[in-house]
Amino acid sequence: MNFTIEPVAVPATADDGAWRSYVALINRAYERDSGSALLPWDPSVLLSQYAVRTHRVIDGFVALAGGELVGAASLEYDRSTARDVEFAVATDPADAELHDALLAHLERHARELGRSNASAYVSSPVDIRTLSDDEILRPASGFGGVPLAAPEVQTMLARGYSLGQVERCSVYRRTADPSPLQARLDAASAVAGPDYEAVWWSGRTPDEYVDAYAYAISRMSTDIPHGELEVEEQTWDASRVRAREARVEPTGETWAITAVVHHPTGRIVAFNELVIPPDRTQATMNYGTIALSDHRGHRLGTIVKCLGLLRWLEFAPESPAVVTFNAEENRYMLDVNEAVGFTPSHWEGAWSTQL
Ligand SMILES: CC(C)(COP(=O)(O)OP(=O)(O)OC[C@H]1O[C@@H](n2cnc3c(N)ncnc32)[C@H](O)[C@@H]1OP(=O)(O)O)[C@@H](O)C(=O)NCCC(=O)NCCS
Repeated sequence: MNFTIEPVAVPATADDGAWRSYVALINRAYERDSGSALLPWDPSVLLSQYAVRTHRVIDGFVALAGGELVGAASLEYDRSTARDVEFAVATDPADAELHDALLAHLERHARELGRSNASAYVSSPVDIRTLSDDEILRPASGFGGVPLAAPEVQTMLARGYSLGQVERCSVYRRTADPSPLQARLDAASAVAGPDYEAVWWSGRTPDEYVDAYAYAISRMSTDIPHGELEVEEQTWDASRVRAREARVEPTGETWAITAVVHHPTGRIVAFNELVIPPDRTQATMNYGTIALSDHRGHRLGTIVKCLGLLRWLEFAPESPAVVTFNAEENRYMLDVNEAVGFTPSHWEGAWSTQL
């Protein structure tokens, strides 16, 4: 295929035709490769992420063949880090040569920006549970794997990337009966005891929690298992939380946060984030979930997960499911999720390379 690669135009509004085509291609390619239709990007939300570059930067590119859009690629980094950069590539039709060329383009751009520690999450349409062991490439942890012969896996290997981790995508389907969640929440709250109080909010973070929430978010980059991936600490403060809220609010996306306050210190020591898209009939994304390391073993993970889902059942009644990504070796988190009813949907390889 003959193609050219150029920067994507970031329009003023999300109803721009070229922008809609760009987002639609990303969504088509992801659905094809993951087998899941639950994770389409909303054009307004994605546009807000490209347009607002205060804390996180995304540079996007399109591949055109004969005037037709055939590929989309992006490079993303957090300004509070120095080396990390994340790549994403989508092609439609699936095309290994184009995938490779878009990756090469992103790598050059990242080098120009001085970013050296690159990662990329890649889905494969083949379920490794249908393969024999010699057909599976596993990360060093031994947990999970990707189909070795798949073209996208071969592209990553040929470009010198290594498989640092495998991420499981899991889905919680809306239930009509909240009582199992309530029973788990009650049991976990009894273990945690009166020092810990669960709180919930949607939209703007209450002033009294914003500093503590920002600190807890920063732990998401340091206190979760990253396998063989190297991940720099990302800094968060109250103004960054406020900036995120200001970006998100006009898109119609809603963040619903369940947190646990530790009364003796006044800190937020656990939280769960559910992100409901502007189209309320779409699936909800679970972003961060964490109990800070000094506060593990008190069932706080179960508390934030169960209370978050109970509130979500009422708050987002049209949303059919909650989707979450966890490292395949993250047994503590998977235990919490499996116990409340999340089931595996598909897996992604987390690849990395030094540029
Ligand atoms: C998942 C998580 C919230 C569960 O924590 P939790 O609610 O404290 O878990 P539990 O209370 O059920 O803990 C059960 C036991 O496992 C231990 N434990 C829980 N998470 C642990 C961890 N990450 N590392 C070591 N031990 C852990 C607890 O100390 C406890 O041990 P004990 O019975 O001897 O006291 C927590 O592990 C965590 O925050 N992990 C990091 C964040 C993360 O991975 N998020 C998902 C990213 S996608």
